[in-house]
Amino acid sequence: MTMKVSLSASDPLSVATDVAVIGIVEGASPKAGALAALSKALGPVVARTLKREDFTGKKDQSVELATNGQLKAGRVVLMGLGQGPVTEAQVRTMAAKAARMAQGTKATSLVLEVPYGVPSQTGAGAGERAASEGVVLGGYRFTRYLTGDRLPKSSLERVTLVTTGRVTKETRAAVEVGQRVAEAINLARDLVNEPPNELYPEALAKLCHDMSKDRGLKCTVLDKAALTKRGFKLLLAVAQGSAREPRLIHMVYTPADAKPKKKLVFVGKGLTFDSGGLCIKPAQGMEDMKGDMGGAANVVALMAALSVLKPPVEVHGLIGSVENMPDGNAYRPGDIFGSLDGKFVEIINTDAEGRLVLADVLAYGRELKPDLMVDNATLTGACIVALGMLTSGFYTSQDELAEKMKRAAADAGESMWHLPLLDELRDGLKSDWADLKHTADRWGGSITAALFLREFVGQTPWVHVDIAGPSMAQRAYGIHPKGGTGHGVLTFLKLIESLVHEV
Ligand code: BES
Ligand code: MN
Ligand code: ZN
Repeated sequence: MTMKVSLSASDPLSVATDVAVIGIVEGASPKAGALAALSKALGPVVARTLKREDFTGKKDQSVELATNGQLKAGRVVLMGLGQGPVTEAQVRTMAAKAARMAQGTKATSLVLEVPYGVPSQTGAGAGERAASEGVVLGGYRFTRYLTGDRLPKSSLERVTLVTTGRVTKETRAAVEVGQRVAEAINLARDLVNEPPNELYPEALAKLCHDMSKDRGLKCTVLDKAALTKRGFKLLLAVAQGSAREPRLIHMVYTPADAKPKKKLVFVGKGLTFDSGGLCIKPAQGMEDMKGDMGGAANVVALMAALSVLKPPVEVHGLIGSVENMPDGNAYRPGDIFGSLDGKFVEIINTDAEGRLVLADVLAYGRELKPDLMVDNATLTGACIVALGMLTSGFYTSQDELAEKMKRAAADAGESMWHLPLLDELRDGLKSDWADLKHTADRWGGSITAALFLREFVGQTPWVHVDIAGPSMAQRAYGIHPKGGTGHGVLTFLKLIESLVHEV
């Protein structure tokens, strides 16, 4: 059931609802605003509870007040926003936590006060949009394969966002846009969470085709025969061991009524399952490799979001989708394959398959002559070793691009860290038998994977994002549910937004 999100200017405490959530900036006076109104309605219990709970408005603090029938809301929850000024990301996170908390306590309705005056490059309604995104992201659950008692009996059906500003056409539209952007990100989460027996390359291609048709995007799919004809030799090498055929998915968003200011390409690694191939992975945790298409899922979500946001840029979404399996036809260590680019590559470890698939897709993408090409992939365990599970690493061929990415990630509230393309490590990719090999030694494994990709992008301005850690979450945190997160999409949207404002 989809959530109904609406905007209202009434006093949050006067709306009938299961839960009302009010964000409190750190250090806000307990005598001002919402707290004053609460004290007036409920009496000294408010001041006493706050003292007992030691609630100061710090990020991640929250306290619940029973209303004993004195208010229209069944329960009131105060949530800490941290130190002001309040940003879009803070509002989004608070809203997500509020929705998750509400749903977790079986509430079907929620009233949420949107902090007023959130600064924005997007203009009016930034806070409203972020709050709307947050509640839809926070209310996400993946229940497709649950029945009977395992199915949740209630869900958050109605959310009223209360603004202390005015309810206008713009702020209403912002709520609507926020909801649809978040639904796009939830689609990415669904795709990551889908099991690999259901979501295989052909199924992903069909989904992209249908989604594109619904949303007025162009979508072309290359099947195995077409890929063979065109010479995607590395992508096909990885696909050899699987009974499932690979696909290249090419979606295009073009602005309807403006000449595009830029041409951008986004690429996603779409391994619907990565067993490791002949260099098979240990059984422990192998099930998580259903999520090895997190980069592809982000590209799908990004294209869906663009069909809503309609920015004046042309965006190509490319997905290389393959299943990496061991069988009698599987590619082997020692094999040498050509590539779409032309270079020959010696195979060392069949579990380093993502970079092979991406190499061919990047070579295809660069032929579109974009102003910028961005790939994202659950590429290396080494990136998780370097940065932990909550942060992705990005690499780029140009310093100015690194600054733009940093800004975009910070504005989006996604944790991303700039890592270096160390030329010192390039020697590790030298092969005795071919132009290059696809892996070096253990050390700096995320960097050498990026250096390998760099061989295939030519002169195209390029960013590579290794999302291996945050693409899936072991437990819910911030805006993320457990499982697929869609981490990256918000940053890509901010990046596109900043490029639009550039020209
Ligand atoms: N898909 C994995 C990387 C990965 C690991 C993603 C854990 C998410 C969580 C990738 O294909 C892989 O297996 N990489 C190898 C490369 C190695 C063989 C050079 C790795 O990181 O161990
Ligand atoms: Mn692998
Ligand atoms: Zn992989």
